[in-house]
Amino acid sequence: MTDYNNSIGVKRIEKNFEDSTDQFYSRDTVLQEKPKRKIRFDHLTWIPSLLYSRLYRVLPRIFKDIFFWLTIIHKSPASNFFANTRYDELRTLIDIKVSSLFLRAVPSNFLKDVTDTFKKGFYSTNLGSLSEIDLLIEDVVKYSSPSHAGARPYFKDGKNKKIDNSFSAYYTFSREDVKKINLIFSKILGEEFNYHLSALAGYECSLHDITYSLSIVFGENSNSEMHQDTYASVAKGFIYLQDIGKTNSPFEYLEGSYKDASFRSIKTNNAVIRGDFHSSGSTRLRGEDLLEALENYRLQSFQGSKGLFILANTAGYHRKGKHESSKPRILLACGVKRRGVISKLIFNFLSIFKTRFT
Ligand SMILES: [Fe+2]
Repeated sequence: MTDYNNSIGVKRIEKNFEDSTDQFYSRDTVLQEKPKRKIRFDHLTWIPSLLYSRLYRVLPRIFKDIFFWLTIIHKSPASNFFANTRYDELRTLIDIKVSSLFLRAVPSNFLKDVTDTFKKGFYSTNLGSLSEIDLLIEDVVKYSSPSHAGARPYFKDGKNKKIDNSFSAYYTFSREDVKKINLIFSKILGEEFNYHLSALAGYECSLHDITYSLSIVFGENSNSEMHQDTYASVAKGFIYLQDIGKTNSPFEYLEGSYKDASFRSIKTNNAVIRGDFHSSGSTRLRGEDLLEALENYRLQSFQGSKGLFILANTAGYHRKGKHESSKPRILLACGVKRRGVISKLIFNFLSIFKTRFT
């Protein structure tokens, strides 16, 4: 029997994982210790968004393309008609332009670095030892039900071939614990951080808008394929809770690929015309397409020590690097609300107004 007395946080999860992965999927174990969820008044605000996504699902493809053109829910063209036009390229260009408006609200002392982040599509810093969040990490595994969060044990090529030894579990932190994590990080991160985050998200947001989940991943999964999450800028983050080298799934990103509307839209249109609906609009690059992308953009492989915090605009191409370790990769996955082009436009005009006139 493993002795857990001297291990905390990530070390305890690594040891539990070594014993058996069953406990990470056991809903019974999880639910026994999970506090009962109360219905809160703000849950009512979910109703419009539920209706909105339900409407989107039932609409014929051509109407999705017409009515949801600039929305964030509409990741790629749905109809062959629009996939044969520059529909996707145009909206991608509009998103890049609208997202770049935020740069006008950045103070001059940060502008050069933040513009660089916007162009590259990523930003990284180090949060140090992170020992303060060890207990929160142990708790979330007890109170939260695991989800796959889009990481599936097969590639999204339609073949549905199960990948051996693939494991993915994401545990979402409670609102209270998210506040605690953000408070801890706010003591480490400077004012500049919020500008980098906003430049990647395409609108003004701050550390306190970030939500987190604990990600435990072993082997390969559908995120091992190079892909874009959607056509428009979205900010996601990865905080390493272990030292990560090239064998334990470093986050990998194609620098500057977000800004290439032409390349991204051509690959997306080709996927739609080929009938690739398995990737749910998050276009995968394979074979010749992947080689072409690797020639066009520099591959950034983020390897580093525990505490490395990478923020990325995941409309640019990215993937989970190869996993060839005996231990699972454990990190905090995080992100801010995704916004469509119209919403970003309003936010960015307000930010510019606030900067100029207040
Ligand atoms: Fe992704």
